[in-house]
Amino acid sequence: MMFFNPFTDPVTDARINFRVMNTNTPAAMAPAIGNPTSETKVKKFIIICVYLPDILLDLKTGCIIQISIRNMFKIYTDQRPYFITFQLDNLLEIKSFVNKCLETVNSDPRVVSAYRHLNLTETDGRTVIEMFPASKIYKFAVERVAVFETPPYGGAGIHKDGPLLQDNNARIYGPHNVSFNIPIEVSDNKCVTRWYDDDQFINFENKSDGKYSRNVFLDYANTDKFKASAETILPDSCAMLVNTEKWHTFYNNGPNIRRILTLRLSKEERSKIDFLSVAETLFKS
Ligand SMILES: [Fe+2]
Repeated sequence: MMFFNPFTDPVTDARINFRVMNTNTPAAMAPAIGNPTSETKVKKFIIICVYLPDILLDLKTGCIIQISIRNMFKIYTDQRPYFITFQLDNLLEIKSFVNKCLETVNSDPRVVSAYRHLNLTETDGRTVIEMFPASKIYKFAVERVAVFETPPYGGAGIHKDGPLLQDNNARIYGPHNVSFNIPIEVSDNKCVTRWYDDDQFINFENKSDGKYSRNVFLDYANTDKFKASAETILPDSCAMLVNTEKWHTFYNNGPNIRRILTLRLSKEERSKIDFLSVAETLFKS
């Protein structure tokens, strides 16, 4: 009967023969035995990598090879499932770049008097996405890199972002579950964003054409009669993950213009990845 040892002997320096002798190919007439004629030096070069969920560490050099791409942002305010505000280390860099882009940007045709929707060019949009750290994890829609420009006393009624339909080319334009909002120009604390749960609006009709968003109440300046589940005023110093599949509204109730960069997931992902999934991936709870 044969017995097998499931474990090999431990590998130690003492067990590794680093002195490898290389022999010349023997001539046909040479004896099959003899002294080796040259020596090949073998470098003791072993890189040991340990994979942890968030860090890849090179034990040979002690260097961190890969910084975590999960939990990449520090939270300021955590109001799941409505919004999360967070620190964006390169916020000033992104602001500066987007402000340059805005010098030549054209208005989106879907302009309404309460706000302007400014799309960046594809080239600029791609650059902005590359600057945003979460693009290491998610695909973003290049054609949807845009700035919401809200004039004094402008806003948007109670709505959810994105339609629930297919266009003629059979491409699915589903709801936008999340938006990454980055302040480009916020000069006061007059603009309040509010979120609501579904139960208040169960019997409300859609007031929009449904191609861009779903609206249940258009009068953004008079939403006090509804009970908000969460509200915030986005300051100039942090970014925000917004649950845009919750009913929400904003009202810029002040004399200053307000510009917010909004980044959306790709068409393929935007309706499949929800707010809580993104929150768990990007933030420490
Ligand atoms: Fe929205």
